[in-house]
Amino acid sequence: MSNIAILPDLLINKIAAGEVVERPASVVRELVDNAIDAGATRIDVEILHGGKKLIKVADNGSGMDRDDAIMSLERHATSKIETEDQLFDISTLGFRGEALPAISSVSKLTLISSAEGAETGVKIEISANRDKVISDAPPLKGTTVEVRDIFYNTPARRKFLKTIPTELSHIINTVTQKAFAYTDIAFTLTHNNSEIMGFNAAADLKERFVQLYGDKMADEFLSINKESKAMRVYGFVSSPGVTRASRSHQFIFVNSRPVKNATINHAIYSACRDEIPNGKHPVYFLFLEVEPRNVDVNVHPAKLEVKFERPDDIHRFVRAGVYEALNPGTEVDVTPLPEPVWPGRSEGGYGPVRAESPAVGEASEKFDISQTDFFSSGITPDVRDFFHIGESFIATTTDEGLLIIDQHAAHERILYEKFLRREKVEPEELFMPARIDLPPREYNFVIKQREVLKGLGLEIEDFGKNNLIVRSMPQELHKTDVRGLLMDVAEGLIEEDTTGIRSEDAGEALLKNIAARLACHRSVRGREQLNNEEMTVMMSDLEKADEPDKCPHGRPTRMLFSINDLQKMFKRK
Ligand SMILES: Nc1ncnc2c1ncn2[C@@H]1O[C@H](COP(=O)(O)OP(=O)(O)O)[C@@H](O)[C@H]1O
Ligand SMILES: [Mg+2]
Repeated sequence: MSNIAILPDLLINKIAAGEVVERPASVVRELVDNAIDAGATRIDVEILHGGKKLIKVADNGSGMDRDDAIMSLERHATSKIETEDQLFDISTLGFRGEALPAISSVSKLTLISSAEGAETGVKIEISANRDKVISDAPPLKGTTVEVRDIFYNTPARRKFLKTIPTELSHIINTVTQKAFAYTDIAFTLTHNNSEIMGFNAAADLKERFVQLYGDKMADEFLSINKESKAMRVYGFVSSPGVTRASRSHQFIFVNSRPVKNATINHAIYSACRDEIPNGKHPVYFLFLEVEPRNVDVNVHPAKLEVKFERPDDIHRFVRAGVYEALNPGTEVDVTPLPEPVWPGRSEGGYGPVRAESPAVGEASEKFDISQTDFFSSGITPDVRDFFHIGESFIATTTDEGLLIIDQHAAHERILYEKFLRREKVEPEELFMPARIDLPPREYNFVIKQREVLKGLGLEIEDFGKNNLIVRSMPQELHKTDVRGLLMDVAEGLIEEDTTGIRSEDAGEALLKNIAARLACHRSVRGREQLNNEEMTVMMSDLEKADEPDKCPHGRPTRMLFSINDLQKMFKRK
């Protein structure tokens, strides 16, 4: 008896679904892509329960006749390429003919479609026993696909779906990316029957930016625009000073396709290296257009990655484009080099070099914290004079030796513990309550966790439609940029919701994450130099902290060079 057999179609489709359909947002991505490929000028996305119950995408594109509609649900059925040759010159978003059959294998799918000028449309429902039930539908040009009960027949995968807000946040992200890449298409997104995004066709990218993020945020960005014979880079990068504690809102599009790409990411970081403090991240929406022939889009089943034929040229060009945006008036020469010279380059792209500033969390591993062992006995420095070294360091002598303190890290630790202890964070009512509009994803999380934030002294009121009112803030955060702070806080909430372990500790972990973000915000913004008295207070506050030697992200706050160390350093021992 033979052991090898060809798998049944349904199983093959389910396997394909494993790669293409990771979560409700992937369904949205595939259906919106199809609508875009069909030439739609309006796309309406309707979601129930974070997409777990329903994902419905309606478009006014070309539609399909009866035969095509039936065919579209077959595996490897596509209208987008015919020959192998075309695989290397793809200008549509789809080409694998995989999405519809894959989605239909893990959900209850209904497709309604009608071609231009047809007398009747067609409706296809996939029944529970996988039969196609075909009937007539009204002749409304375009296509509507409804996907219900995703993963209902793959319980193991259904279990991995996250909370409704998390799944919704991924969907919002997807729609945001598509809306950015296709400015001339009108989009709406409704969740549980209330509209959370909705805008008309935009005249240009800037207008779409304002539609998506509001004009306040748009003002904080610089335009990127550079063109050569072979490529064009354009979009927006945050101006120096507008940074985030995480990599959120970093979007890269290659030929209108949102992708992750280490080469481009590295090029952007290396262009901003002088503008962005260590551990902070720029926000960017970067579009690259290259000849379809020079980029391979068929390297990832969900098409989230691309591979360039000449990554070095791409790197130089993107870096130059971003650099010029940040330094108006300069022009960087990008004549292709004969030899690749970028440092740290490896097969898949660019290894991290200095410019790829590690996120604060990552940084902690790189520090040698052994120095802090000196403090294990808990010294109370007998403080004399303080000296500033650079912007952040303070030096002083104690009986035991030379003490160097990182003012920001120390301040962060002190504040962090104060927040956690709810001490001295009595919310101070704002003289002018601030009304802030946030991107929908961030808005949803902040509203959901209002009570947690209130416990930390940040009192927020829902103002509807992505707007909220900040009623009070902890005194300590008085002078901060409220919007940037809320963006970071939202990112923390999203992070905890996505990665947090569900247990009794979850609440505690969330609180710590948010407290660390609040503390970090204050400390980074505050560039003022402390006077002797303030420094003495800071030193004694630090001494009282539970973990005085590390900031909440794990960086050292202070280092002691003992007399013994100094003797060794100067070879007296
Ligand atoms: N919204 C739509 N409007 C018109 N045609 C569509 C739509 N969605 C799917 N199709 C047709 O069905 C085919 C299969 O779709 P899909 O499974 O997503 O594969 P692909 O997009 O890779 O071709 C497409 O090639 C297209 O011809
Ligand atoms: Mg498709």
